[in-house]
Amino acid sequence: MIAQGIWAHDLGTRVVFPRTAPRFAPTIYILYARSHLTQVFSHSLSALSFLVLTQVQQHTSMALRSLVARKSLGLGFQSKAKILAVGSTAHSRGFQTFSLPDLPYDYGALEPAISGEIMQLHHQKHHQTYVTNYNKALEQLHDAIAKGDAAAVVKLQSAIKFNGGGHVNHSIFWKNLTPVGQGGGEPPHGSLGWAIDTNFGSMEALVQKINAEGAALQGSGWVWLALDKELKKLVVETTANQDPLVTKGPTLVPLLGIDVWEHAYYLQYKNVRPDYLKNIWKVINWKYASEVYEKESP
Ligand SMILES: [Fe+2]
Repeated sequence: MIAQGIWAHDLGTRVVFPRTAPRFAPTIYILYARSHLTQVFSHSLSALSFLVLTQVQQHTSMALRSLVARKSLGLGFQSKAKILAVGSTAHSRGFQTFSLPDLPYDYGALEPAISGEIMQLHHQKHHQTYVTNYNKALEQLHDAIAKGDAAAVVKLQSAIKFNGGGHVNHSIFWKNLTPVGQGGGEPPHGSLGWAIDTNFGSMEALVQKINAEGAALQGSGWVWLALDKELKKLVVETTANQDPLVTKGPTLVPLLGIDVWEHAYYLQYKNVRPDYLKNIWKVINWKYASEVYEKESP
């Protein structure tokens, strides 16, 4: 049924055409929505059976990429919180690209600790931008390697670290949060609870330490609760910008990462980062952290 597809490299997502659509038809393409566009656009489109796009002759790819980007970024599709995104997908040129992961809860589900507006912008705009720019950098890296351009390969490392780190960090962050009704804020029991008491004295002491280090972090970055697999202990670390935790040590496993970039709290808490840090504990998903700890503990 499917004759051709276009890779929207910046989204890691494929848009497919029905077989009957001529490639360079001058006017109209009909894109079936049920099975494919729902992987690209928001749920609000799922009720539609098709979408008609005007298309100008040989600019098919460019126009569709632009359209997909606008829709996926939520412009005009605000009614449903969760958006769908496909998982990592193989690039047609033979290397892996990445896509925005789905959230396991609605954008407004973390209120009042974190507003739905913040969550939507954070996910759909900020995280999406890291994914988009990560994929672009990877494509450029692929080309640079193919050309044997050593200088270009080195030049790309900064963009890969920043955008790839942004994708890695936010993918962890979403899983570190959960609504109150689904266990958000419930302190860990079992082995992680014991480890926190052993390493920090108490949960309250750990929270105080993370809040203090997160508030003191200059500029933008992350504060982490990590398992050091080599030292066999829990540690609190901070990373600047979008540096992932692994940049602080290869044996560190992130259990909990809190985003202290202004985009994570400013719309609700303005410049008062300590208030954001104080309230985020009400929606921390300790169940997830416990699962990672139990899996990774030596
Ligand atoms: Fe962020």
